Amino acid sequence: MVTLHIDAAHACIRLHWADGDVGCFPFLWLRDNCPSGVHPQAGERTFDLLSVSAGIAPVTASLDGQDLTIVWNEEGHCSRFVLDWLRAYRPGRRAHDPAAIPPQLWRGDMTSSQLPRAQADALMHDDTALQAWLCAAKRTGLALVDGLEDDPEAGMRVARRVGFLRETNFGTTFDVESKLEPNNLAYTAERLPLHTDLPNQEVPPGFQFLHCLTNTATGGGSLFCDGFAIAEDLRVSDPEAYACLANVDIPLRFHDRDYDIRRHDRVIVTRSDATISEIRFNAHIAGVFDMPPETMQAYYRAYRAYMAATRSDRYVVSLRLTGGQMVVFDNRRVLHGRGAFDPSTGLRRLRGCYVDRGEWDSRIRVLTRTVGRERSA
Ligand code: OGA
Ligand code: ZN
Repeated sequence: MVTLHIDAAHACIRLHWADGDVGCFPFLWLRDNCPSGVHPQAGERTFDLLSVSAGIAPVTASLDGQDLTIVWNEEGHCSRFVLDWLRAYRPGRRAHDPAAIPPQLWRGDMTSSQLPRAQADALMHDDTALQAWLCAAKRTGLALVDGLEDDPEAGMRVARRVGFLRETNFGTTFDVESKLEPNNLAYTAERLPLHTDLPNQEVPPGFQFLHCLTNTATGGGSLFCDGFAIAEDLRVSDPEAYACLANVDIPLRFHDRDYDIRRHDRVIVTRSDATISEIRFNAHIAGVFDMPPETMQAYYRAYRAYMAATRSDRYVVSLRLTGGQMVVFDNRRVLHGRGAFDPSTGLRRLRGCYVDRGEWDSRIRVLTRTVGRERSA
């Protein structure tokens, strides 16, 4: 049972559901979302908001069965809404989104057996397995795939099951191995301190796929930490340091013969509700700090505190990838690195590519339509 109240003073209709839920629907919002203003095939809005006045109001509003019917005081237009739709979209809360999976933070005590894990074959052929793995990997920001073919394209095939590959100045895919003329540190045998890739870009790549083709050299273990967990802990333990990293921009730059890609941004990027949306941390491509001198000391203190955490057992998880395994992680949340390796003792070769967050979320939503195994937040 639903009851209806027209609140002319506040220019809205209030609906009260029997279980106590209340929805407040402004008149203009109702007119703007009238189902008649959506193209039946394209599913996009055809209604022109400026075709009505801001003061539009109902002449009558009535409930019948599962519908709310409104006759407007302009154009004699009649709108009919399904009550369940109104309840799902009532203003003041986000409508349900199967891809809105909150991050589950982890620290150095997480073991590799706790990571979301799937067989490549299952991800390639089983929509239910893919949907479950995408949701779980979104939650932890770090996941494994086993059983990839010994083929440099195998990781890319899994990535393409998720979405379009993100092309960068390193190509659509990239080979991580010790190269004769490296244009970045990853292409050497040196240790790589934990970092996010390409924070020098306007929008850094989202999920990174690193397929291990072979890893027989001594050393070269993989390291990961949850950049959100470090930031959240800093917010509590050292609010001043947190505020520096969340408010002060630093320069980041990649340059070689062909490119010079620069960005000024914060290490901790937050949304309007102060939740953390991304971490941009890469000390090897950080440019020359250019904040005002009076901020510099506090900034260095904060930056070093964050950096120290990325080297601490409290946060870092180690994995040793073997041929046929792939690690997949949210590059805008989880930092990755590796130990140095000795190329004279064997081969170490990874093939990488990226799929942006938007593609990932879209795949979750589309798969959830059919496999119907939503993992509610
Ligand atoms: C990279 C990178 C990690 C590794 O290519 O950006 O960090 O394990 N590689 O070699
Ligand atoms: Zn990297």
